[in-house]
Amino acid sequence: MGAQRLVQGQRAELLQALCYGGSAEGLESVIDLLLAWEVLLSEDHQSLRTPSQPLYSSARALLDLACIQGESTCASLLAALNQVLPETQRAGLRFGDCRVPPQGAGPVPITAAQALRRDRPLLVRKLRGGVAAALKALLESGSFTVYDCDEVQLLLYTPSQQARRLLDLVQSKGESTAEVLLQHIQQTENKPSSPVNEEIPTECLLYQKKLRSSLSAQSHFLNTYGGTGSLSLDDIYTEVLLEVAKGSSEAQQQPLGLQDILGLVGTVNEEADLVLVSGEAGSGKSTLLQRLHLLWARGAALQDFLFLFPFSCRRLNSEERELSLKDLLFLHCCWPDQDQGLLFQYILDHPHKVIFTFDGMDEFRLGFSDEQRHCSPTLPAPVSILLFNLLQGSLMKGVRKVATSRPEAITPSLRGYLHKEVLLKGFSAGGSTAL
Ligand SMILES: Nc1ncnc2c1ncn2[C@@H]1O[C@H](COP(=O)(O)OP(=O)(O)OP(=O)(O)O)[C@@H](O)[C@H]1O
Ligand SMILES: [Mg+2]
Repeated sequence: MGAQRLVQGQRAELLQALCYGGSAEGLESVIDLLLAWEVLLSEDHQSLRTPSQPLYSSARALLDLACIQGESTCASLLAALNQVLPETQRAGLRFGDCRVPPQGAGPVPITAAQALRRDRPLLVRKLRGGVAAALKALLESGSFTVYDCDEVQLLLYTPSQQARRLLDLVQSKGESTAEVLLQHIQQTENKPSSPVNEEIPTECLLYQKKLRSSLSAQSHFLNTYGGTGSLSLDDIYTEVLLEVAKGSSEAQQQPLGLQDILGLVGTVNEEADLVLVSGEAGSGKSTLLQRLHLLWARGAALQDFLFLFPFSCRRLNSEERELSLKDLLFLHCCWPDQDQGLLFQYILDHPHKVIFTFDGMDEFRLGFSDEQRHCSPTLPAPVSILLFNLLQGSLMKGVRKVATSRPEAITPSLRGYLHKEVLLKGFSAGGSTAL
């Protein structure tokens, strides 16, 4: 069957696969490939994907465009989908015998702008962890204004979307800007990867110390419903049984260790920040989080994270005030003794160094509301709005969030924002464990 008929005949299924989990990443990766293969022109691209356009409309527009352009565009679209979609989404779809154009088949790029277009998928991957550094280089060379940088770093964009926006803007500015960016990427790659840390301000280190000692004190004894008991967590804690939830591409349900909660295993959506640990009543979810807090406080786990902010959904129920994100962090977790402003700015600028935990989402009585988008870290909002926007990533994008819940309490709207789900099956009856 021809490619065009395959696209038309599977329209509903292709739309669903392209918009899987409510994430734009699949669609945008397909568009990256089509631009690189010069199947799509940048004018087509601009009309397909504007920030205000709902995801499904963009996906429909792409399928329509392919069908209007005919057989060869449809074949490329199927080839791109075949390359980009995870296995679980590919199953059941028919791609015909469309093939990925052989690498290097197109003309060798002679200009920097052409190279940016041809290598777009690779450049998005390279840039997504280093957008800030690339913007700095572009700003210093005079190629970008502060306004351009703000446009790229919109809080709503995921790291990959920022990288794409950066590439689009560079391309619109012409050859010399494209050269600056390529040179920057080359220099970054040639630099020996040094573990030398960027200097952390003393105020941040002092706050980290305070947070660690407060968390260590809170998690030393087993927390029970009545409060903190007298059993030492070290004495009672036994190994937990964790599994990747169904639906991830890891077919074999291998058991996981505590450190895998934040590892790569089981990832269903790289762009989302929320890891959900779900388990039945009494399976040990709160105790597991408490263990993670204690290990972080002792410097024995999660050492990539400078700050860990723990939240209890049960405690948040009693918060009646409207709070800003800043208040939520400092009032509910640990009050900074000095220079709140600097500390908060550091947190905003370094989201990958921060982790939030939310225990017992099923206990959150205020209910999650996805009606109100709230993106400002400094404006107050009701706690339920803050919480939902944090979990789905409108606020503090890039901060890793670990939440626990009984399975039945996870709403479909929240499910769309999961980085992965880990099932907690219980804990072993006796014997302590190393972690
Ligand atoms: N890893 C563990 N090792 C030893 N005992 C544990 C462990 N995890 C939990 N427990 C015991 O089980 C009790 C219940 O665990 P926990 O409160 O963590 O469950 P939960 O999944 O959070 O339950 P709920 O859904 O009601 O919030 C704890 O008070 C503790 O006595
Ligand atoms: Mg609990």
